[in-house]
Amino acid sequence: MLLSPAGVEALRTALTRARFTANGIADRLGSQATGGVARNDFRAALRATEDRDPLATLIRVFICDQTEPEAAVAAALAPLTVAEAVAGGIVERYADGLRAGVDLEPYGDDWWVLADVPASARPGKPLHSEHVLGIGGATQTLIGAAVRRPVETALDLGTGSGVQALHLSTHARRVTATDVSERALRFAATTAALNGQDWELLRGDMVAPVAGRRFDLVVSNPPFVVGPGTTTHVYRDSGRVGDAIGAELAAAAPHLLTEGGTMQYLANWVHVAGEEWDERVAGWFAGTGLDAWVIQREVADPMAYVNLWLTDVGEAADPQRMAAWLDWFDAHKVEAVGFGIVSLRRSGNDQPVVRVEDLRQRVEPPMGDRIAEWFDRQDWLRSRDADGLLAARYRAAEGLQLRQEATMGDEGWAVDRQVLAMPHGLRWTEEIDPLVLALVGGADGRLPLRDQLALLAAAHDVTPDELAEAAGPIVAHLVERGIVEPVTD
Ligand SMILES: C[S@@+](CC[C@H](N)C(=O)[O-])C[C@H]1O[C@@H](n2cnc3c(N)ncnc32)[C@H](O)[C@@H]1O
Repeated sequence: MLLSPAGVEALRTALTRARFTANGIADRLGSQATGGVARNDFRAALRATEDRDPLATLIRVFICDQTEPEAAVAAALAPLTVAEAVAGGIVERYADGLRAGVDLEPYGDDWWVLADVPASARPGKPLHSEHVLGIGGATQTLIGAAVRRPVETALDLGTGSGVQALHLSTHARRVTATDVSERALRFAATTAALNGQDWELLRGDMVAPVAGRRFDLVVSNPPFVVGPGTTTHVYRDSGRVGDAIGAELAAAAPHLLTEGGTMQYLANWVHVAGEEWDERVAGWFAGTGLDAWVIQREVADPMAYVNLWLTDVGEAADPQRMAAWLDWFDAHKVEAVGFGIVSLRRSGNDQPVVRVEDLRQRVEPPMGDRIAEWFDRQDWLRSRDADGLLAARYRAAEGLQLRQEATMGDEGWAVDRQVLAMPHGLRWTEEIDPLVLALVGGADGRLPLRDQLALLAAAHDVTPDELAEAAGPIVAHLVERGIVEPVTD
C-alpha cells in the first residue's frame, strides 16, 4: 500500500470527517461551482473554499490542484500526519506549500479511488512508466458495459487504481484483481483499504497469476493500444505486437470461466486493407466454444490514433516516435483502428453464437443490462427450432418508432425507406421492407407468429410456407436486437 494500514485508516477518518465525498463536495460548492469543476473551470470552486477549513483545503488540493500552506493541509489530513502523507506520495512538497501527489478522487456515493495525477495536470513532467490510470473514458466504458448480476467470484485483470474491482465488490462475493505492475497494485491495495474492501491482489502477466482458476465474471481494461509492440507506459502498452492482446484474452477465456460465466474486456483491433475487420476479429473466438458479442464503438484513422495516444502520455511533440508508429501501421496495411467491447459467455452450448458488429450510436445506460439481455435472448433463440419460433407470440418493443423517408412525385409521396428505431436501450435502427413492417406492426403478443404469417401470406399473395421460411431468420434477428420480444406469460 502507499500508506501503512494505520495510515490508510487515518486518511479515511480525515476524508470522512471532512465529508470529502461526491455529495459533501457538491453541497459545499453548490451547483454552479460543481458544474465549473466538471469543465475544469475552478474559479467558482476556489472562491467558495477561501476559508480553508478541512473540506475546503481538500477540495483545493485534490480537486482544484492548488498548492496550499502546510498548516492547512496538516489540519485537513489529520490524524494522518504530513510526514506520512508525503512519504506515501499522497501529497508532495511544491513551491512554498503542499500539492496533490496522487489523484484522490471521491467516486460514486461514498468511495475514493487513488490513481496518478494525469499528464495534463503536470505539463513537462514525464509520466512514470508504471503510471496508474485515473477514471477516464475507457474505464467508464467498461464500468457501464459490465454485467452487474450477483456472482460468487469475479476477476479484474489489469486493475490499476482498482476502480473496476470496486464496482465488482458491489455484486461479487469474492474479488480477485491482478496487475503486472507492483506500483499499480500498491494503488489498488490502498483504494481497497480506503473503501473497507478485502480483495485478493496478485501480481503477474495477464492471466498467469490465476492459471488453473475459474471465475463467474472476468473484466479487463487491458493495455489495448495497438502498435509495434514497444512498451513505454504499462497502462497503455501490452508489449504485444498489433492487436494481439485482444486475441490472447479471447484464447484464455474458456479456461478462466465457470459454466455460465461471463468475460468482458475492452479491445482495439486493426482494420487491414483487403480484409473485413469483423471477420478478422471473429477469428479470435473460433474454437473457444464461447458465445461472443463484439461491439465496435469507435474507429480512428492511424494519424488521429497515434496523436491521441502520444498526447495521453504527454509525448505529442515527439516526431520520431510518431513516425515510427505510423511506419508500422503503413507496413502492416493498417487503415484504421477500431475500439470496442468484447463480451463472452460460456454457455456450454455446442453451437456458440459469434457476432461482431458496429454499434456507434449513443446508448441509454446501463449498457451492461442490455448485454446481459442479449445473451439471455441468444439462449431463448437457441432453445427453439424453426417450429418453435413460429409457435411463439411476439410483442414489438415498447415505444418502437417508425421513421419514413419519402419523395414527392406525380402521384403523391413515394416511400423510399422505412426504418424501425428503438428510442431506448441500445437505440438500434433497422431498415425494413413493407412486409416486415406489417409483421412488426401486428406483433401485439396475441397471435402466434405462424398465424400472423398466414394472415400476411393471404394479403401478399404468397404461400404461408414460403413466408415462414423467409421470416424465420428475420424474426430471429429482430428478437436478437430486442426490436420484438417473445411473450413468455
Ligand atoms: C488501461 S489500464 C486499466 C486500469 C483500470 N483497470 C481501469 O479500468 O481504469 C491497464 C492496466 O493493466 C496493467 N497491465 C499492463 N500490462 C499488463 C500485463 N501484461 N498483465 C497484467 N496487467 C497489465 C497496467 O499496469 C494497468 O494497471
